[in-house]
Amino acid sequence: MNIGLACDHAGYSHKEKTKKYLEELGYNLNDYGCFSEESVDYPDFAHQLANSIIKEVNSLGIQFCGTGNGINMSANKHKEIRAALCWNTHISEQARLHNNANVLTMPARHLSWDEVKEIIDVFLNTKFEGGRHQTRVNKISP
Ligand code: RB5
Repeated sequence: MNIGLACDHAGYSHKEKTKKYLEELGYNLNDYGCFSEESVDYPDFAHQLANSIIKEVNSLGIQFCGTGNGINMSANKHKEIRAALCWNTHISEQARLHNNANVLTMPARHLSWDEVKEIIDVFLNTKFEGGRHQTRVNKISP
């Protein structure tokens, strides 16, 4: 499975750790930046990641900014993207089970690396339930 990564300067450290962790687990990763802790604008990276999922270069995305909100809002401007802001494993599980989220967004300044790792593990190992949730997901984009 190909997974795309994106972040701003606030999420850079967690994005780098995510890359190393998932590479060790055997995932193919495409990193859309940013590539340092120098101040940048989160939409520039969210849109690259979103476009890669729309073009099916990546099946799923993982992204970070300080609160998660800015990069999440940016990704969700694309109608094919269902980016879920997750700060614990329950929300991460529900985002896949019920919302068929294709991007996992996390608030880097509010999570430890251990928490991030657990949220990622759950997200990547949970499948969409379909059924009544498919009907609801079909109604997300007007
Ligand atoms: C950067 O300081 C911060 O504004 C950004 O990472 C994010 O939290 C925005 O939503």
